[in-house]
Formats: sequence, C-alpha cells, structure tokens
Amino acid sequence: MVKILMVCLGNICRSPLAEGILKSKLASNSYFIDSAGTANYHHGKQPDSRSIAVARKYGLDISHLKARQFTVDDFDAFDFIYVMDESNYQNVLSLARNENDTQKVCMILNLVYPNQNYDVPDPYYGGDEGFEKVYKMLDEACTIIAENLS
Ligand code: 4NP
Repeated sequence: MVKILMVCLGNICRSPLAEGILKSKLASNSYFIDSAGTANYHHGKQPDSRSIAVARKYGLDISHLKARQFTVDDFDAFDFIYVMDESNYQNVLSLARNENDTQKVCMILNLVYPNQNYDVPDPYYGGDEGFEKVYKMLDEACTIIAENLS
C-alpha cells in the first residue's frame, strides 16, 4: 500500500479537494490517500461548501471528509506528503525529525512546474472562481502523481 497525504492550512478547501481528486485516479486497494491541515482551526469539520460544490461539479463527492491537523506521526504513516504552498511547506518541515522525513515533503505544483515552488493559492477568502482554478491546478498535478505511480 502506497500512502499519500495532502496538506494545506485549514484542511477544508485545498487538501480535501486534492484528496478527492487523487482518490479518483488511483485504486483504493493499492493506495491510501488522506489529507490534513497545518492548523487546527476546523477540526472535525467537513470541507468548505465551495470545495464540496466544485468537486461535485466534476463528479466527486468529498462531503464526508473531516478536517484534522497534521502531526509528526504523519511522517511515519505516509510515504509522500504533498503541500499546497510555501507556508505549508515551512510548517510541515518545522516538524521533520530527520532527512527521511524532509524528503517525503514536496510542493504539489512542482509536479507540473518542476523546481518553481508555485503555490496553490488559498481560495478561502475569495469567490467561487478561485475554487474552480484550484480544482484545475490540483487535477493537473494529481494526474501527474497518478501517472508517476502507476
Ligand atoms: P485551506 O484554506 O488551507 O485550503 O483549507 C483555508 C481554510 C481556512 C482558513 C484559511 C485557509 N482559515 O483561516 O480559517
């Protein structure tokens, strides 16, 4: 079983979308995919209604997901940790205990634009168009993640 974790700040907008998108591209008997937030603002909450809506528009149901905070144990539980932006990257790396932990962490858009360290923009304070844009970015990145693994 290959284990993949998607990480953003709140675990209600970007990373649940990334989780749902990647799950739709990989077989659940071989890949375990989860998401978490570096902050604990929304513990136990379902994804933002705008993330649920854009996922539904593309045929995915993420309404059952529940937010949780990233913990140091996630370095042991997962093989790959994809973060959405530079700030998530710094927050996750600040918990890394060794080089093995550090090497698991990658900015997700580096799959599409290698070494550019582009952020998936936080859509929380914007409108619906931000969620559509984030969906498309994550779909592109997750297509490459799935291709690289299969
Ligand atoms: P996310 O978006 O990191 O993509 O889940 C956010 C959700 C909530 C907040 C910030 C970003 N917040 O400040 O509550």
